[in-house]
Amino acid sequence: MKESCEKQKILDNFENTIASCTRCKLSSTRTKLVFGEGTACAKIMFIGEGPGKMEDLSGRPFVGRAGELLTRIIENGMKLKREEVYIANIVKCRPTVDMLMQKDRPPDKEEVERCNPYLKEQIKIIQPKIIITLGNPSTKFLLKTDTGITKLRGNWGNFQNIPVMPTYHPSFILRNGGEKSPLKRLVWEDIKKVLEKLNKP
Ligand code: URA
Repeated sequence: MKESCEKQKILDNFENTIASCTRCKLSSTRTKLVFGEGTACAKIMFIGEGPGKMEDLSGRPFVGRAGELLTRIIENGMKLKREEVYIANIVKCRPTVDMLMQKDRPPDKEEVERCNPYLKEQIKIIQPKIIITLGNPSTKFLLKTDTGITKLRGNWGNFQNIPVMPTYHPSFILRNGGEKSPLKRLVWEDIKKVLEKLNKP
């Protein structure tokens, strides 16, 4: 059962208002818009890059292989339920190479430009205590930087007075050795910093 708070109604209403968005070209190829999922009362918000195939088909963020890894990080590592955090993406529709819905690609500048007000509104409504950015696109956007994730990860940044912890995207871990990758240990170090900050009196 979803924890409920006043913010939930506002977030749900917002989701309804953008359901048939046509602000960018990705709307012409999407199966489903992937708004985000979790509770509006979340203290932690994860922000990825954009939906992949499984997300586009289901309308839910991080449900493919990368999503399974993210879920294990949340549930086994952080000892939280997926429903207790909020998971969103910088763009809400699936970006693919040549718009052919075959091979995923990062969102382009125009797509981020058109879609980012939605993410900003979600952050404004939820007001998480901490944001965790997964990979380059969301980190670069929120922290307004061109520096890459390898340099930024593990270091606190800030978005509108909300602490931001950048870390590697689960897909990057999967492409570089998966569960046994040393990158996973680095992600865990970053997550531990998040938990320490969250649990500080
Ligand atoms: N990768 C992302 O960045 N977001 C998703 O929702 C799924 C995979």
